[in-house]
Amino acid sequence: MSLLVFDVITIFPRFFEGPLSFGIVNQAQKKGTIGIQIHDLREFTTDRHKTVDDRPFGGGEGMVLKPEPIFEAVERIYSRQLRREGRVILLTPQGRRLSQQIAKDLSTFRQITLICGRYEGVDERVAEFLVDEEISIGDYVLSGGELAACVLIDSVTRLIPGVLNNERSRVNESFGGTSEDVGSPTPSLVLDFPQYTRPESFAGHRVPEPLLSGNHEKIRLWRRRKALEKTLKNRPDLLQYASLSEPDRRLLNDSLE
Ligand code: ADE
Repeated sequence: MSLLVFDVITIFPRFFEGPLSFGIVNQAQKKGTIGIQIHDLREFTTDRHKTVDDRPFGGGEGMVLKPEPIFEAVERIYSRQLRREGRVILLTPQGRRLSQQIAKDLSTFRQITLICGRYEGVDERVAEFLVDEEISIGDYVLSGGELAACVLIDSVTRLIPGVLNNERSRVNESFGGTSEDVGSPTPSLVLDFPQYTRPESFAGHRVPEPLLSGNHEKIRLWRRRKALEKTLKNRPDLLQYASLSEPDRRLLNDSLE
């Protein structure tokens, strides 16, 4: 039996044929670790035209997804499984921003229902009375929640035990480990260190010498310093300089000099 089943409610069921058929998510489905069920919102309408949207009360541009088919779809999903073992999520730019921690928390559920918003919005009664939480994948507006649902499925799936062959690769990666894993007692988040592979020299650019030295301590320090530098350059918001460990601060000071 799958460890985690995703039920996705969408008006574009075929959208998911591509993004979920490759790599880790595809393998996890084949192994049966996860299950993904796509539900066409139109199937849960009761009128002849299969109407899923309507004009907004109070006026304004665009169309709003109606509540009835969405409530009906969720009810149908939980007629087959326990609602309390699952999580119902609305993908919307108005949601809480997805993070590695949220993905980790979600990976412990047995079932997750993802409702993909569309058009100008979703009737607010869905957010208020149906879902457990609203999630956004970032501070930009997509044309719908389908891409966001794929991002969430991918980020959650790779955290399920047994999905990635190499457990360490999760610990080492950006946002992946606890600060203890990298020798710091602080809650500071640090991005991944840069990786290189063959050839040693490409277009005149050589692989940094410490990586070729075979000296594990030298490699470890170089990687830590590069990770700190990269974080300072690209994501200074992540780096709590004040709470960096003394060795980290020294490494960073060496690079700033
Ligand atoms: N729908 C539209 N934009 C979105 C976003 N940024 N995150 C989640 N769902 C969305």
